[in-house]
Amino acid sequence: MRLANRFMRTIGKQARKPSGWLGEVMFSHMAAWGHRPLTRWAISFLDVQPTDHMLDVGCGGGMAIQLIARIAIEGFVAGVDYSEEMVQQARKRNSAAVWAGRVEIKHGNVVALPYNDESFDKVIAVETFYFWPDPVANLKEVHRILKPGGLVALAMEGSTESPDQQK
Ligand SMILES: C[S@@+](CC[C@H](N)C(=O)[O-])C[C@H]1O[C@@H](n2cnc3c(N)ncnc32)[C@H](O)[C@@H]1O
Repeated sequence: MRLANRFMRTIGKQARKPSGWLGEVMFSHMAAWGHRPLTRWAISFLDVQPTDHMLDVGCGGGMAIQLIARIAIEGFVAGVDYSEEMVQQARKRNSAAVWAGRVEIKHGNVVALPYNDESFDKVIAVETFYFWPDPVANLKEVHRILKPGGLVALAMEGSTESPDQQK
């Protein structure tokens, strides 16, 4: 029982801020596949356009960025994560688009996003909102970097009608 508790604590800690080899395996490779249906579902609400400027907050290994960048081919897709390891993984996964200047991934925190006011048309955040330290203040920060009339999609496994709830 104690071992099971310790295991669950380790998983929870890694989900909050992936680090080291375990974080890389779990939240770059495994989560990338596990979160794919939820991520696609969240993207479907954003009506992504070829010229959109979009931000993924808590981007993890950069899978959502990769999916969005395939649609926003004339736009710009950014990602922010406070785990250095995830930033490296996300850059690796999106290396061609980073090299082309269509994708940018920064080390940063939702508490103070490293972008100017009204920089983005749309924001996505998948399986991360429940880790944010001050949800109301953090949503205001997201609102700051959104253009007027911009859209936000926050997706969590428990989201009503999410693919995970349909299983
Ligand atoms: C469960 S992972 C989800 C990663 C990715 N969105 C996905 O669906 O595969 C949660 C991610 O949120 C990031 N995160 C948590 N709190 C954060 C914060 N305050 N600012 C930026 N990133 C944060 C973690 O580092 C982690 O990469």
